[in-house]
Amino acid sequence: MEAMRGVSTDTVAVGAAPGLSGMESAARRAVGVTPTQPRGVALGGEDFARLCRWIVPRVESALNGVVLTRSPEHLQLLADKTVAICRQAGLNLDSDTWAALLEHLQAELVGYGPIEPLLEDDTITEVMVNGPNDVYIERGGKIVRADVRFRDDEHVIRIIQRIVAPLGRRIDRHHPMVDARLPDGSRVNAIIPPCAIDGPSITIRKFGKKKFTAEDLIRFGSVTPEMIEFLKACVNSRLNIVVSGGTGSGKTTLLNVLSSFIPNDERIVTIEDSAELRLHQTHVVRLESVPGEEDGTGRVTIRDLVRNALRMRPDRIVVGECRGGEALDMLQAMNTGHDGSLTTVHANSPRDAIARLETLVLMAGMDLPVRAIRQQIASAVDLIVQQARLRDGSRKVVQITEVQGMEGDTVIMQDVFVFHELGIGEDGKVIGVMRGTGIRPKFTPKLEAAGHKLGPEIFQAEYRYGTPAESSAAPKGSGNGHGSGNGNGRH
Ligand SMILES: Nc1ncnc2c1ncn2[C@@H]1O[C@H](COP(=O)(O)OP(=O)(O)OP(=O)(O)O)[C@@H](O)[C@H]1O
Ligand SMILES: [Mg+2]
Repeated sequence: MEAMRGVSTDTVAVGAAPGLSGMESAARRAVGVTPTQPRGVALGGEDFARLCRWIVPRVESALNGVVLTRSPEHLQLLADKTVAICRQAGLNLDSDTWAALLEHLQAELVGYGPIEPLLEDDTITEVMVNGPNDVYIERGGKIVRADVRFRDDEHVIRIIQRIVAPLGRRIDRHHPMVDARLPDGSRVNAIIPPCAIDGPSITIRKFGKKKFTAEDLIRFGSVTPEMIEFLKACVNSRLNIVVSGGTGSGKTTLLNVLSSFIPNDERIVTIEDSAELRLHQTHVVRLESVPGEEDGTGRVTIRDLVRNALRMRPDRIVVGECRGGEALDMLQAMNTGHDGSLTTVHANSPRDAIARLETLVLMAGMDLPVRAIRQQIASAVDLIVQQARLRDGSRKVVQITEVQGMEGDTVIMQDVFVFHELGIGEDGKVIGVMRGTGIRPKFTPKLEAAGHKLGPEIFQAEYRYGTPAESSAAPKGSGNGHGSGNGNGRH
C-alpha cells in the first residue's frame, strides 16, 4: 500500500461532469466541492465510504478487464483511471483523502478488499469469511470475530475471483468450490452458493513468513527440548515417522521441523498439494500436485507423484499429507528401502492414525485384505507423533508412540511419551508435563546403531514445557493423560 502513496497524480480537480447519475451527484454533494476550489476537501466516515462505494465499480469498468498486479505500471494505471473519473465528476480531494482513496482502491482492485489488512497483519494466522457480514480470524491460537465486513455476497465473490483468476481457475454456480493459493503461498478455499447456504465463504490459512524452527516450538511450549532431541535421533536414524493430528493442529509445521533433521547429504523428495514445507537442505526436489481440469485432464495426484518419486532415487520421501490412495504407495516405499520417510495424517490419536491409514490404503482400490494392510502399516511405520490443538489454542505434541508390530490381527503400539494435563494457569493456559512411560522403544538399537545413545532414564523422566533442561521436577502420578496409558497398548 505504501507503494500507492508514491504514485504520481496531478491535483484531482475541476470540470463538472455532464449527466451525473443520482449517485454521482450525491457523491459530489458529499464531497461538497466546487469545480474551482483551489484546495481539495477532506472526506471521512460515511462520506468517504459512499465515495468508495461509488467509485470502485467505475474504476473497475474503466480498467476494461485488465487484471491488476502490484507492478508500478499497474498502480500508476489505477491512479490515472481514478484521477480521470474524479476529474470528470468534479471531485477535488485533499491529499490525505486521495491517499486513503487510492489505498482503498488498491485493496479492492489489486488486493483482497476488506480482508487485505488482515492478510497483511503477521499476527493473524487464519482468516475465515462466512458470508459478507461474518469474518473471523485466528490470532495467538484464538479464534475471534474481526471488525470487517463485505458489502454483500457479490463483493465476497468478486474478491474470490480476484484470488482465483490469476491461476486460471473460476468459481460460479456451476463450479461452486475452489482451492487456490495467494502469491505468498497462503492456502485458500472458497465455496459459494448453492453449496454455501449462508453466503460465499473463504478460508485462508496464512503462510507464515517465517517457518517455525525446533527452537520456536520449544519456546512456545509445544514440545520439550528432550522430545526434540529424541525426535532428532529418530529422524537421523531413518525411522519412518507419521505426524498425526486434527485440522490446523500444527502437523505441517512439525513435519517441517522433523524434515529439518534429515542430514544434509541425503537426497530428499518432497510431495505436497501446495508447497508449504521449507527445507534448508541443498539436495531437495520439490513436487506439487496439479488439480487439473473439471474432467480430470491434466490432473496429477499426490499418488502419481509418490510413484514418480520412487523412480527419482530418493533417500527420503516427505509427503505433506496422506489423504488418499497414496498411503499405500507411501507404506510400500517405507517398506522397500526408503526408510526415514515422513508424512502426516489427519487423526485424533495414534490409534486413530493407524485406522485412518487403513482406510486410506483401501482407497487405493487394490482390494487388499485388512490383515495384509495392517501388516504393511505395522512394518512400515516406526513412530507416530500426535500433535493437538488444546482448548487454550496452543499446539502441542501430546503423544509419541512406537508401532511395534503385529500380534494376531492387531497392530501393537506402545506409548513412549505422553502429555499429562495438570490444570489451567491464571493466564488461561493449559499447564502440563510430558512424561516418559518408562518403556524403552524396541527401535532403540536402531538409534544406537546410528550413534544416538539414549539411557533408560530419559524414558522414565517427566519433562516440563518451555523450561529447557529443567526436567524430572514434578512428581509422577497426577493429571490426566491424553495417551492410551502406560503398558502394552493393544489397538
Ligand atoms: N507449535 C505451534 N505453536 C503455535 N502455532 C503453531 C504451532 N504449530 C503450528 N502453528 C500454527 O497453527 C496453524 C496451523 O499449522 P499447520 O498448517 O502446521 O497445521 P496442520 O495441522 O498442517 O493444518 P491442516 O490440517 O489444515 O493441514 C498455522 O498458522 C501455524 O503457524
Ligand atoms: Mg497441513
